[in-house]
Amino acid sequence: MKAARAICFAVAVMIVGGPASAQTLAPGKMRDTVLAACNSCHPVTRFTDMRKTRAGWVLTMNSMIDKGAVIGDNEFDPLVDYLTEHFAPGKNSGK
Ligand code: HEC
Repeated sequence: MKAARAICFAVAVMIVGGPASAQTLAPGKMRDTVLAACNSCHPVTRFTDMRKTRAGWVLTMNSMIDKGAVIGDNEFDPLVDYLTEHFAPGKNSGK
């Protein structure tokens, strides 16, 4: 029965872990917002390996809005905060 238990474990890990794209984002209330705003045209992995300062992320956000990203007025600052906190220069991982 060891094999069956291993399979159950694997399935449980997949369910808890969720889709690969979501795993690359730190958990928190902003994760869903980031997925909604930034995962439609390209996967979030397009930028989760990047490291930018706040000014850099503001430029990126404005550039994405130019490309057609729909970001609510009250979502812009929280998104920049999230990106700056998790994808800052010197951070090894977005988590
Ligand atoms: C309306 C479509 C769209 C949405 C939504 C979108 N992007 Fe993009 N993004 C693009 C396109 C088009 C490119 C250029 C092609 C590429 O590099 O994949 C791009 C490229 C990028 C790049 C690489 C270029 C750079 O400036 O460094 C980053 C970083 C990026 N996007 C981040 C984001 C973030 C963060 C969000 C959420 C706020 C987001 N994108 C949402 C369309 C979009």
